[in-house]
Amino acid sequence: MNALNKDFKKLAKLIEKDLKDKVNKDYHRLNFHLMPPIGWLNDPNGLCEFNGEYYIFYQYSPFDANGGAKFWGLYKTKDFINWEDNGAKVFSDQPYDCHGAYSGSTLVYNGKMNIFYTGNVKNIGDYDYINSGREHNTILIVSEDGKNFDNKKLLMKNSDYPNNLTCHVRDPKVFIENDKFYMVQGARDKEDIGQVILFESDDLVNWKFINTIKSEDKFGYMWECPDLINLDNKTILIVSPQGVEKEGIKYNNIYQTGYYFIEGDYKSSNYKLSDFEEIDRGFDFYAPQTFKDSKGRTILIGWMGLPDIEGLYSNPTVEFNWQHALTIPRELNIRNNKLIQTPIDELKELRKTKKEFEVKNSLVDEAFDTFEVEVDFKNSSDFKLVIKEGVTLEYLKNEKLFNLSFNEIGFGRDIRSCKLENLNNLRIFVDTSSIEIFINDGEEVFTSRFYPTEDKKGINIEGENLKVRIYELASFNIKGE
Ligand code: FRU
Repeated sequence: MNALNKDFKKLAKLIEKDLKDKVNKDYHRLNFHLMPPIGWLNDPNGLCEFNGEYYIFYQYSPFDANGGAKFWGLYKTKDFINWEDNGAKVFSDQPYDCHGAYSGSTLVYNGKMNIFYTGNVKNIGDYDYINSGREHNTILIVSEDGKNFDNKKLLMKNSDYPNNLTCHVRDPKVFIENDKFYMVQGARDKEDIGQVILFESDDLVNWKFINTIKSEDKFGYMWECPDLINLDNKTILIVSPQGVEKEGIKYNNIYQTGYYFIEGDYKSSNYKLSDFEEIDRGFDFYAPQTFKDSKGRTILIGWMGLPDIEGLYSNPTVEFNWQHALTIPRELNIRNNKLIQTPIDELKELRKTKKEFEVKNSLVDEAFDTFEVEVDFKNSSDFKLVIKEGVTLEYLKNEKLFNLSFNEIGFGRDIRSCKLENLNNLRIFVDTSSIEIFINDGEEVFTSRFYPTEDKKGINIEGENLKVRIYELASFNIKGE
């Protein structure tokens, strides 16, 4: 342990203690979502199951609610309801990661946790930080016990990546296939084309570049946080592209997140990417990561937020010294050639009081502070649901359009939409300042933050022949380490 590491550990704990009361005074602290204890959170990192516990790391800047020095924070759980908050665990304490322990992944192998991440370095000088002045190093931490994360090894630096690339190569996701290890990294080439680069290894330490994976036509200038998975016998590349132009109701956020099906052999030039499909249609979703658990589920968690939203919309939580959260965990499956997201089953344990209604034309109900609503539609027809007097969900049957919109409690968030052939059912999770909407058993999902005052309550429904169930939801039980 070096001196910087020792002091970072101490300082992070001190400032957490110092600011915790202020943070916890915020009514908008979430009840059943993982948030930074204080300060800033972005991408989920290193998701895995290790010795019977789920490890949810995340990009964490305790010193600044608008993002600063990036560390890895950690939450652990056995059941996704009871959590242990481990605070900051991986620090940017080496010359090769001194401007941030950026995003990465974990591979549990032979009883050890192998963490791969990007060490971010910004040199001082007159640089554009794209083609020069920036180091993106690939770093390995081997943890024997899942508690100690100080054993770092520098694996690759910019000169080890293909030389058609800019300095932007980051977010290693590692997986194993037929006894070989593979790593995908997100990259931007010198022609500003977003892409993924693929490496292969026999020992997790020595990596060989073997292929570039990109779309036939350019789709953005940089691809962040790639994740290559096998699901129901299909190969899927999940990725977060930057620099994609808005097209009608598509790609309306500053940066996008979606997936491609890969046909053919992605380890050779003999592959083809399908069309890009957005994973989430809401205002606050980016840089998700998946992992496979011992029950065989592929679970996805996203960052319930986006970078660079200044001037577009905002999060008033910053006044209370914290910002952003992770989404609820979602199980992934494929149905009708589409990626389907279902909230993991464990979340049903949060359900408390239940109310049930048969709705002929309309329903007004107080609901609860934080709740889940399920709506079943007998026949797909026009529908409108207003939550807490400011969040409107609407289905326009003739236009086959689903809209999510906000009044002022959206803090600048206006409207997001998707095309929808039929509306059969809805499952909606409403936390104190977030909403996650699962349409038609997870065929489409909208994730967003919003900031109602405490007096804003209830739901207001207009629609024909509906069955509505509302469950009050309990909070996560989060204890310190
Ligand atoms: C995505 C991202 C990653 C990077 C990390 C830094 O949100 O920009 O590409 O590793 O955040 O916090």
